[in-house]
Amino acid sequence: MHKKPLVRSQVGEKLMLTALAGQPYERPPIWLMRQAGRYLPEYRDLRAEAGSFLNLCLTPGFAAEATLQPLRRFPLDAAILFADLPLPALALGQDLSYRDGEGPVLPPIRDRVGVSKLHMARFHEVLAPVYETVRLVRQKLPPDRALIGFAGAPWTLATYMVEGGGSTDHAHTKRFAYGDPAGFSALIDLLVEATGDYLIAQIEAGADIVQIFDSWASSLPDYGFSRWCLDPIRKITARIKAAYPLVPIIAFPRGIGFFYEGFAAATGVDAVSLDTGVSLAAAAKLKEETVIQGNLDPQLLVTGGRAMKEATDQIMARLSGENYIFNLGHGIVPQTPVEHVTALVSQILTWRK
Ligand code: CP3
Repeated sequence: MHKKPLVRSQVGEKLMLTALAGQPYERPPIWLMRQAGRYLPEYRDLRAEAGSFLNLCLTPGFAAEATLQPLRRFPLDAAILFADLPLPALALGQDLSYRDGEGPVLPPIRDRVGVSKLHMARFHEVLAPVYETVRLVRQKLPPDRALIGFAGAPWTLATYMVEGGGSTDHAHTKRFAYGDPAGFSALIDLLVEATGDYLIAQIEAGADIVQIFDSWASSLPDYGFSRWCLDPIRKITARIKAAYPLVPIIAFPRGIGFFYEGFAAATGVDAVSLDTGVSLAAAAKLKEETVIQGNLDPQLLVTGGRAMKEATDQIMARLSGENYIFNLGHGIVPQTPVEHVTALVSQILTWRK
């Protein structure tokens, strides 16, 4: 694999950047998807103090604190911006609220008339607190820890905007996309523009890396996969690369199975995050074409003990050379005991072949 140049001042400083450049390292970096959140008692306290989840996300002092909490407990190699995936929908003029424990709720947009009401006029104004969070975190984070900015991919964000919240079948989104492809394209194009702007603003505020979450890419069949998953991510990547060629981009196209092969080349991203369904054999093969991240089952982190240790050993034995970042295959769940996270991180930090 081609080795990418590192910015001189960053060489040897951030293990995450070394790994993302495909350079050799002593051990793989580790961070954990959804490492901030309800499994941490200090997060639950902060959440109570903030009153609402939206207020937590949009108050820089609170959001910076939530971002840093997991790094105070565990020696992780990266922090990930504390925000939530549907915030750009709010910034485009769609209402957004949260019901306790249920995730985002939005008034659904089901057709091109609904799309035509969205606008960029107040986009950066609404998201300004997020950029301020990035600035605050970068100031407080030790220089050898990377800060990851993030956004949802257009397809995944569109599923929340069209369904009006979380869904497992995405029936309305598909009916819109298949039935009125030009109208749905107008939504995706707007989200490509908005997401590119959003990630660039995070980079300008101090994010070292950005990750694009296409958490519902799994729901697209071959018909539509290029148009709604690959193309939008490729366009966003090209825009970021034109402005900031040295900022690594990670994509998490969850559950795409065989489509993982060639995904990095087709989109231009520097790394792909693997879900729990990718076999270690397939992951080892993918590592020859791109940097990979993943893919311990978050439920093993709930179980802990021997099962977690064995599964982690197997992953490390198979993948831990260069081009690899240790992570989970999806986010930490609220039931996770904190001690299991401590044990996992120390296993990776002390791991020897
Ligand atoms: O450490 C971190 O990763 C914190 C920042 C973060 C959150 N959400 C905070 C959050 C990040 C990176 C996300 C990403 C996100 N949000 C994704 C993509 C990753 C994935 O899981 O596939 C998606 C699909 C969402 C949308 C979302 N937000 C859902 C489905 C839910 C409800 C489920 C849940 O975990 O509660 C949320 C709410 C949410 N986002 C919480 C947190 C800490 C819980 C809210 C609370 O405290 O009440």
